[in-house]
Order: sequence, then C-alpha cells, then structure tokens
Amino acid sequence: MDNDILKVLYSKSEIQEACERLGKEIKDFYGDKVPVVIGVLKGSIFFMTDVIRDADMYMELDFMDVSSYHGTTESSGNVELVTDISTDIAGRDVLIMEDIVDTGRTLQFLIDTLNDRGAKSIKVCTLLDKPAGRVVEAKSDFTGFEVPNEFVVGYGLDYDEKYRNLPYIGVLKPEIYTNN
Ligand code: PRP
Ligand code: MN
Ligand code: MG
Repeated sequence: MDNDILKVLYSKSEIQEACERLGKEIKDFYGDKVPVVIGVLKGSIFFMTDVIRDADMYMELDFMDVSSYHGTTESSGNVELVTDISTDIAGRDVLIMEDIVDTGRTLQFLIDTLNDRGAKSIKVCTLLDKPAGRVVEAKSDFTGFEVPNEFVVGYGLDYDEKYRNLPYIGVLKPEIYTNN
C-alpha cells in the first residue's frame, strides 16, 4: 500500500499526539457528565478508539452508519441513514466522532437527526477538518488537524473502501484514482 502514497501528511506518532490532546480536551469539557459517544462508520473507528482509550471518564458508546449518495456533480448529494444507534439519546449529551468533515453534509444530517430526537447537547470531534471542501455549514468543536484540499487516505479514510488500515494519513498518487 505504501507505494500508492504520494506523501505522508500525518505520521502515526503525530496522529497519536493529536488523539491524546483531544482526549484531554474532551475530558476537561465534559467533567463529570456521561456523554454518549457516537462513532460514524466506517471512517472514524481508529480515531474514536484511540481518542477515548486514554480519556479517563465515564461514557457510553454507540455507532451510526450513514452514506452519502453524490449525484453527477459535486454540488449535489444527500445523506441516508444506513445503520442507527440503539441508544435513546433524548436528554443526553452527545459527542459525534468523525474522521473528516469535508462538504459538511454528513455532519449536518447527523446533527439534524440527533437534534430531532431531543439530544441535550451535540458536540463534534473530528480528526481532520477540510474547510475548503465545505458546501453546507458544519463546524467541529474538537479538531485534530485542518487539512488542505487533497484526497487523503489512511487511519480510517478510504479510497474505494481500501487504505483504511494504513497507520498514517497520506495523499494518494493521482494515477491510482485516474486508472480506475
Ligand atoms: C466520509 C467521511 C465522513 C464523510 C465526510 O464517509 O468518513 O464521514 O465522508 O464527508 P462530507 O463532509 O462531505 O459529508 P463516507 O460516507 O465515505 O463513509 P465511510 O466513513 O464508510 O468511508
Ligand atoms: Mn465516514
Ligand atoms: Mg468513504
């Protein structure tokens, strides 16, 4: 897989440092509250487990799978719920864990959905924020890195479902996605 990578953006150790920092910020923010932490499948799995593992606090975990169907142009797209959480989040403090916020559509859909169910508060933690990709308004409360407008893979992020298990985040060589 390494041969398909043009350059490494964030090494394994840089990612681990960011996860530790975010874990501390989250613990400081929630104090003795017990949030429901929702991982957005599949991209967030590595990030979520690394951030929460050392955050010494009570929390509940759940997962949600949503998928974006993009139309013929980049500017059209909608989001559908594929797999729902099983936790009743009415009156609960919710923390959404994402690997990346790009157009913001996924996040906007999640926030609207969880708000409709009566969440007491909704916060967002993302490893990567790509402000240049934003199409709808969406903001992160706990952010690892702001990324340039490049196609990144690894540490949960995929191209055609592959590269998620790379231990670092890198930019894919353009020939990989132009040959397919
Ligand atoms: C990716 C990524 C975020 C979302 C961000 O997920 O993991 O969840 O897209 O993009 P957006 O801000 O433009 O909505 P994807 O839907 O590809 O599913 P995956 O996590 O299973 O790869
Ligand atoms: Mn995702
Ligand atoms: Mg994906």
